[in-house]
Amino acid sequence: MIEIKNLTKEYVQGRSRIAALKDVTLTLGEGMTAIVGTSGAGKSTLLHVLSGMEPFERGSVTIDDVPIAGLSEKEMAAFRNRNIGMVMQQYSLIPDFSVLENVWLPLTFSEKRCPRSERLELAKQAVRTVGIEELTGRPVDTLSGGQMQRVAIARAIVNSPRYLFADEPTGALDGENTEKVLEVFRKIAEGGVCVLIVTHDMHVAGCCRRIVRLEDGRLVRS
Ligand SMILES: Nc1ncnc2c1ncn2[C@@H]1O[C@H](COP(=O)(O)OP(=O)(O)OP(=O)(O)O)[C@@H](O)[C@H]1O
Ligand SMILES: [Mg+2]
Repeated sequence: MIEIKNLTKEYVQGRSRIAALKDVTLTLGEGMTAIVGTSGAGKSTLLHVLSGMEPFERGSVTIDDVPIAGLSEKEMAAFRNRNIGMVMQQYSLIPDFSVLENVWLPLTFSEKRCPRSERLELAKQAVRTVGIEELTGRPVDTLSGGQMQRVAIARAIVNSPRYLFADEPTGALDGENTEKVLEVFRKIAEGGVCVLIVTHDMHVAGCCRRIVRLEDGRLVRS
């Protein structure tokens, strides 16, 4: 469970400060939750804060009873690797690595350190789950946007995270592939994972158990 209390996050830009999240209080549990709101509302910022990639000024964020602000950078990286899968808005894949190499990367950083053959099998399984097994050996910079999006999802789920944060995971997909990705998320959520999906697509939001709306950094409905 994620408990967010009075969270305020500001970015410093030269001499000015931009408040991206303002006094947000929210509890997030199992299942699929959509995060919606206009461009600039703070949706990506919220995911970045929850995954410990951005610091915050005020309030608290507790994940499974761990106050994340108290973790060092190294501890946060280990916590993230263990518990959180991220699908970033810009995919953040390694361009000249193959699909399989990108997907298995988190396993090579994992503390679990399973044998190479097991890691390979887990990576292949994640690639199968998102339905891109025919692309396994391709360098990711030769793929379409929708294909890259699914590589990013496979990489996010390869470690069986308890939390999956996805930023516009269906933004580059057509209707058919959107359904496939939603099915993947549904399956993962049924396994007790907390899935947060930032989306502009009201159909995707409608498939979620709960919709959280941000407006200009504030929570307006949940
Ligand atoms: N690294 C940064 N430095 C300074 N300001 C930033 C930074 N990242 C985001 N912001 C600002 O914080 C606010 C929230 O941005 P954020 O990216 O969270 O919005 P968003 O809801 O994800 O928008 P979109 O739907 O366009 O992706 C915006 O005003 C944005 O300009
Ligand atoms: Mg965003």
